Amino acid sequence: MGKVYGLFGYPVGHSMSPIMHEAAFKELGQKANYHAFNVKPDKIEEAVMAIRALELGGCNVTIPHKVNVMNYLDEIDPEAAEIGAVNTIVNQGGKLKGFNTDGRGYLQSLLEIAHTLEGKSVAIIGAGGAARAIVTVLVHESVSRLVVANRTKIKAEQLIERHKSKATELGVMDMRELEYELASFDIIINTTSVGMSPNTDECPLSLNNLKKETIVSDLIYNPLKTKLLIEAESRGAKVLNGVGMFVNQGALSFEYWTGLKPDRKVMTKIVLEQLG
Ligand code: ATR
Repeated sequence: MGKVYGLFGYPVGHSMSPIMHEAAFKELGQKANYHAFNVKPDKIEEAVMAIRALELGGCNVTIPHKVNVMNYLDEIDPEAAEIGAVNTIVNQGGKLKGFNTDGRGYLQSLLEIAHTLEGKSVAIIGAGGAARAIVTVLVHESVSRLVVANRTKIKAEQLIERHKSKATELGVMDMRELEYELASFDIIINTTSVGMSPNTDECPLSLNNLKKETIVSDLIYNPLKTKLLIEAESRGAKVLNGVGMFVNQGALSFEYWTGLKPDRKVMTKIVLEQLG
């Protein structure tokens, strides 16, 4: 029997991770299984112990466990510690190490259309877990300016507080300010769930002041084109949906578990098939 990998979350019924990872293992001729486990909020400690007991190769971790799970691991990678959340656990012979591949996964997909981030001015909408992962990697990449705008401004301020940086000018705006200042940004990233299916007619901000060369990016992948992206594209902006981030975060987890590079094209194809 090959290794077993898993996803711990609640609920995980609609996750595309099992089908994506199993396709990647198959493509590499590896015997392995990936199973999505529904782990209720008060059961995460026991689920982590099961990784050792059952000798799972590793796991992904999703909502609502990404922060709590850190309490039960043997070691946390420095970037995951900085983000304050873990989405990947590697079982190193019974020693469990936590990583976060969300930020790097996003960065890889952004670089496919942005090419370089040097000197770029970036606005991030939202201040939750996904925003934290992205802010952490973008500050490491030394973008020139990074502004967080959030419905609840204090949360944006708290997020920025964690990231003192010499190379990046950090700031906070409310949504109205961001709309007014939109033309001063090269990249705009929506990390909130506004516009996600079934609420596809919602848009997190007005794009009246958008300049043409801007990249507008949405972490949502269902629908593939949110109202935000449709509107941005109609104004001549370049757009990026959340499929690339989803595939890349999974591919990076896969690399941590196996030391092998999975075929991202195969993974993307199966995800797009699922999304119809
Ligand atoms: P994730 O881990 O996906 O980032 P999260 O940590 O729950 O999820 O964060 C959700 C983010 O989306 C928050 O910034 C939230 O704004 P608040 O801090 O004001 O709650 C934002 N968000 C969610 N629903 C929203 C809505 N309807 N309008 C505006 N922002 C919303």
